[in-house]
Amino acid sequence: MVKVAPSILSADFCDLSSDIRRVSGADWLHVDVMDGMFVPNLTVGIPVVRSIRSHTDMFLDVHLMIDKPARYIDAFCKAGADLLSVHLEADHPDRIADALRAMEANGVKKAVALRPITSARAILPYIEQLDMVLVMTVEPGFGGQRFLEDQLATIREVRAIIDERRPGCELEVDGGIGPDNAPAVAEAGATVLVAGSAVYGAADPGAAIAALRQAGR
Ligand code: DX5
Ligand code: ZN
Repeated sequence: MVKVAPSILSADFCDLSSDIRRVSGADWLHVDVMDGMFVPNLTVGIPVVRSIRSHTDMFLDVHLMIDKPARYIDAFCKAGADLLSVHLEADHPDRIADALRAMEANGVKKAVALRPITSARAILPYIEQLDMVLVMTVEPGFGGQRFLEDQLATIREVRAIIDERRPGCELEVDGGIGPDNAPAVAEAGATVLVAGSAVYGAADPGAAIAALRQAGR
């Protein structure tokens, strides 16, 4: 069964506590951090992760869409993240390795994320130490975009690399996911489905989460 990780990007940030409670039946909570540089949008940062941590015991899956993320790993770990994803495009490979080392030192789960343009093979230098790979199925920056079908091939390639070199590593897919494409995404090898608009745009977020899980069986 796939895990479902609602993205609070589609929540009401003035009523975040109750919007988190509305998705408490989900497996993880996905937090999208954007810096206005790596992506053309700004969202939330360290103080918001700290506040979320004090309101919920949910597993906090923090997606860092920021330049040079190694600078902020310690701070996000101390704020209460359970897993951090850094984009491979966000810095020199040596600095990405530094970021992963900082996660290890803090005892949080380690992930790398790929923009749609990035090849699955880009994970090869890191795969043996990863807990998760995040494949984007939209251009990062905004919720509510259309799922990029071509990314199913990248999901399959990442799945093959994980099966060969790091069995048990999670494969998260993020962007434009809903009950219509969740079966194909799970079939391609995803183990975690992120959904913003499909969960928060639904009349009953709990039912939307259950439907995604069911679709991903
Ligand atoms: C986009 C974010 C996603 C976004 C997904 O850059 O990384 O997590 O919230 O939203 P939907 O599910 O609406 O595409
Ligand atoms: Zn995300």
